Amino acid sequence: MDKFIIEGGNRLCGAVQTQSAKNSVLVLLAASILTEEQVTIENVPHISDVLHMSEILQKLGADVCFADGNVTISSGNAAERDLSSHLTRELRSSVFMLGSVLTRFKHARISYPGGCDIGLRPIDLHLFGLKKLGVKTEERDGYIVCNAEKLVGANIHLDFPSVGATENIILASVKAQGETVITNAAKEPEIRDLQDFLNQMGAGVRGAGTDTIVVRGVQRLHGTRFTPIRDRIEAGTFLIACAMCGGEVCVEGVKRQNIAALINKLSENTCKIHIENDKIYIRSNGKLRSNRHIETLPFPGFPTDLQAQMTSLNSIAAGACILTENLFETRFRHVPELIRMGADITVKDRTALVRGVERLHGAVLSAEDLRGGAALTLAALCAEGKSEVCNLSHIDRGYDGLDKKLRAVGAKIERVRA
Ligand code: UD1
Repeated sequence: MDKFIIEGGNRLCGAVQTQSAKNSVLVLLAASILTEEQVTIENVPHISDVLHMSEILQKLGADVCFADGNVTISSGNAAERDLSSHLTRELRSSVFMLGSVLTRFKHARISYPGGCDIGLRPIDLHLFGLKKLGVKTEERDGYIVCNAEKLVGANIHLDFPSVGATENIILASVKAQGETVITNAAKEPEIRDLQDFLNQMGAGVRGAGTDTIVVRGVQRLHGTRFTPIRDRIEAGTFLIACAMCGGEVCVEGVKRQNIAALINKLSENTCKIHIENDKIYIRSNGKLRSNRHIETLPFPGFPTDLQAQMTSLNSIAAGACILTENLFETRFRHVPELIRMGADITVKDRTALVRGVERLHGAVLSAEDLRGGAALTLAALCAEGKSEVCNLSHIDRGYDGLDKKLRAVGAKIERVRA
């Protein structure tokens, strides 16, 4: 398996183009089988989650073709409804296939889904929503067997604004009879992107981005060509990298409103930020003040997917920060690795107390999950001396060429075969 070799201590300068949003592309791929016609998603990142998702589509019988950075899905011949392969165990997004497979084939079988090992990640809200639409579910030998002979619109109130459950309910209701109203829906920008994509295919979805989404079922969806929004988490990772290393970087492609919670926090760290349309300019002298409190929340709150990177930042900022992780139970797996670099962090339950130290020192580190791996990479970039970040398969799930992009703005980072 590959690893990063990183020589810390270089300032970052230059511009970074962000990739399309991983969490958008994955759900759009799931949605692509809602029509038998051809769907093209433009500018897809070369990341393993996308490759796994395409393999799931292929297993269903779809043709998936990558060319010039785009992916084209033709699912006219798709007929398989069994999602219970080893792939679905690896990739949590496979659960999003449930809604579209049920709409298309009226039947599905999945094994309990996998994904990053960052907590329990139950799917009760997904199943609750699907049942409301008329899906009959049954658990058999570790599989969930679903039947949806007739999908009928319903009023569905989610106890928690789950991103995946909101998306799955939309996918299962686009062709249902009548209207579906989802209240306390997730408001993440990727859900708005799904709405735009589906409406381009002829669906009747409105309200995404607010907490009430209304889906008017339609008879038929047709093919389309779509460019997804850019990745706010990748953009955030680069902004935090520049804050920590010092320098001047322009991150291109992400709209302010999609990343406002991070911008507020970076301003507290004394970074200078200037925004022009979808270009975010950050200037940092590397001497940071800590955030007093960061609490992860559903959008528009502070994203859990940037919590690990902000743990790294606060570990070298002056002062102390209380970091509360409200979304996932075990999302502090980067902390023991940061402590090995000299960080002063205490974790109790869902809260980490991060006391800033003067500097971190290089170490051999292991990425234990996607964002934790990015956090360790950033810590290594500003640490004294040399570090190795191993277990890159986690980072490869979500970042397309992280090392290349960092090198282009002046970081000393190489990817080598371990
Ligand atoms: C999505 C994102 C992930 C991000 C997360 C929160 C994708 C592919 N992944 O994950 O990057 O970190 O949103 O912004 O888009 N929950 C339940 N029951 C359910 C569903 C969720 O209890 O049926 C809980 C989860 O355990 C978790 C919380 O709700 O504590 C948030 O999960 P959810 O919003 O569903 O996240 P994902 O869709 O899995």
